[in-house]
Amino acid sequence: MWGGRFAGGPAKVMEKINASIDFDKRFHAQDIRGSKAHADMLAAQDILTSADAAAINEGLDAILREIDDGAFQFSAALEDIHMNVENRLRELIGPTAGRLHTGRSRNDQVATDFKLWVRDTIDRLDLVFRDLIVALLDQAETHAASVMPGFTHMQVAQPVTFGHHMMAYVEMFGRDRDRLAESRRRLNESPLGSAALAGTSFPINRDMTAAALGFDRPTANSLDAVSDRDFALDFLHTANVAAMHLSRLAEELVIWSSAQFRFVTLSDAFSTGSSIMPQKRNPDAAELIKGKIGRVSGAYVALTMVMKGLPMAYGKDMQEDKETLFDAADTIELCVTVMAGMIADMTPNPDALQAAATSGVPTAPELAAGLVAAPALPLRDAHHRAGAAVKAAEDRGCDLADLPLDLLQGIEPRITEAVYKVLDAESAVHARRSYGGTAPEQVRAQIARWREVLK
Ligand code: ARG
Repeated sequence: MWGGRFAGGPAKVMEKINASIDFDKRFHAQDIRGSKAHADMLAAQDILTSADAAAINEGLDAILREIDDGAFQFSAALEDIHMNVENRLRELIGPTAGRLHTGRSRNDQVATDFKLWVRDTIDRLDLVFRDLIVALLDQAETHAASVMPGFTHMQVAQPVTFGHHMMAYVEMFGRDRDRLAESRRRLNESPLGSAALAGTSFPINRDMTAAALGFDRPTANSLDAVSDRDFALDFLHTANVAAMHLSRLAEELVIWSSAQFRFVTLSDAFSTGSSIMPQKRNPDAAELIKGKIGRVSGAYVALTMVMKGLPMAYGKDMQEDKETLFDAADTIELCVTVMAGMIADMTPNPDALQAAATSGVPTAPELAAGLVAAPALPLRDAHHRAGAAVKAAEDRGCDLADLPLDLLQGIEPRITEAVYKVLDAESAVHARRSYGGTAPEQVRAQIARWREVLK
């Protein structure tokens, strides 16, 4: 491609470090889409004849078919997808192919292709996140009133409902979708026509190519346009936060599906057995989701390192923006899809949830709140009395609700029989009616709101 100046070819290892075709062929469809939009614009601006533009478009369509059919011969000597496509175009339509690159450079071309690829990926990911949210909503609906222990510090804290717990993840993945949408909105400016770094002297129409490729507008500074990878970092940040959410849920599934908890049973479709321990039903998918987050975080760090200290404008360093992002995108898409399947398939066990909700004195806060309400004790005193009751229950090895009334009255004489209603996990949950609280009516209101949002 630069034979005019160079007499000798590159060293073998130079070709190895320099070529990106092995990975950037992944956005061949976006590359061809961009080139077709560019050719149409050149023709509309009378920079190309319409006959040349038609030949170029036909050639590009043929190349797309060849690649999709696996018939295309990729060449490392041609470095990257852009030059592989252009070279093949020359083989197919002759020297006219050389007119396609008028008013652009590989620098704005690769930025355009990569943006289009990330945008397509965001659109696909949004749908899988939606499936996951629907699966969580369905479980939340079925178990809006199933009582379970809520934890802080992994210690039993207060009773909540399983539906409420599911809805916490709905909020998280809902924010992930927001972040995807926000990344997409910010990404959506077309670099095409920024050329190598300074723009071009050809009378191109950047609004036209921007519109043809579904961008909101062209980028406003050519230097920034060819050297900006913020959109890739935005995407990776979003993927990173989502992977962290997935990994938290995955860890809960590992704990919940253990013999000690039995809160849920994972389906056969998402469990594995053991070759030597027949009793085992391993939550491998959940563990793998946790294990895979490192790849997504790693990609974010890797790209940050590529971009830091990069002087304007394009630098070949930036070719390192692709492989780790592709891997992160594949990883997050796989993990969300698997999680959606696991959640849709899992069977919560209301009996185990209920039993766990009553052991470990999770209604002590109810007792304290009750003492604030009826005898109108200051909260700190009420907490103190409730603490004494917890101690008594611990000494006897029983639940709060099993303590005899006279013992409780020894701690606080104004306690009456009514206290036992308060100590019941079910009524504790129903009492937490504050907006966003765990009462089944609140959980159902949030489910309804989310169903509306998803319409
Ligand atoms: N393969 C290159 C990349 O991915 C395309 C841009 C090359 N531009 C250049 N001036 N060498 O970054």
